[in-house]
Amino acid sequence: MPGTALSDRTALITGSAQGLGAALVRAFLAEGARVVALDVDDEANRATARALDPGGQRVLPLHADLRDLDAIERAHRAAEDWSPVDVLVNNAARPLAVPLWDITPEDWDEVFAVNLRAVFFLTRAVAAGMRERGWGRIVNMASVAGQTPRPTGAAYGSSKAGLISLTRVFATELAPHGITVNAVAPAMTDTPMVRAVSPEQLAELTAQVPLGRIATPEEVARLVVFLAAEGSFVTGATYDINGGTLMR
Ligand SMILES: NC(=O)c1ccc[n+]([C@@H]2O[C@H](COP(=O)([O-])OP(=O)(O)OC[C@H]3O[C@@H](n4cnc5c(N)ncnc54)[C@H](O)[C@@H]3O)[C@@H](O)[C@H]2O)c1
Repeated sequence: MPGTALSDRTALITGSAQGLGAALVRAFLAEGARVVALDVDDEANRATARALDPGGQRVLPLHADLRDLDAIERAHRAAEDWSPVDVLVNNAARPLAVPLWDITPEDWDEVFAVNLRAVFFLTRAVAAGMRERGWGRIVNMASVAGQTPRPTGAAYGSSKAGLISLTRVFATELAPHGITVNAVAPAMTDTPMVRAVSPEQLAELTAQVPLGRIATPEEVARLVVFLAAEGSFVTGATYDINGGTLMR
């Protein structure tokens, strides 16, 4: 394979077992990167890693529950022992679409633990190595739900809005060290997360997208790869990829 900007870089991708995360693993491998693939669903994650890297040399599947700060630290050490991490994609998330009346304190805490607290602690751990090496690319998977209010989005949408804010703070603090930090904000994308929606609801939601369809995971993955490979002067930005759902 001819050299690309990501040849022999190592990317740590969370939520890699399925959906967007699996598409991200595939896209980074196609660019010649090595991938640390982290997910709480160990069996599915290993199956995805085997399917995308049959030789088992370029993907390291790691089992970790991002709700657990010790597990985050163990996963980080295992990743760095395998290969220093150059690119971090915080992609895993806990979805929740529940009317505000029905959100429990446990739901609230779990959504924020995965979607925001884990991102903070994993990013800080990984950024320490990037800072020593003077180069790093971090991409956070936000959502249009964090940019504009949706019914049933009190916890999930607020966690994604927080993630956009966290992206800017990390971008500011890490810029002097050659590390860029950006967010990507998709609208509906064809992954298992969305397949939980009923066909009627999906048709209704799709009708609201000016481009008339939902995104493919590959389209979103290409934007993340672009930011990691080519985004040398882009930091603190949130890239919308929403078919025109929200224009600003
Ligand atoms: N699919 C969409 O329509 C859509 C739209 C906007 C944003 N997003 C965002 O894109 C990202 C990926 O979404 P997706 O649709 O592929 O989701 P998905 O639910 O299909 O996959 C999420 C993955 O994260 C893993 N995960 C969940 N909790 C975890 C935990 N505690 N520890 C470790 N791993 C955990 C799951 O096991 C799963 O493999 C998420 O951040 C999501 O919020 C998705």
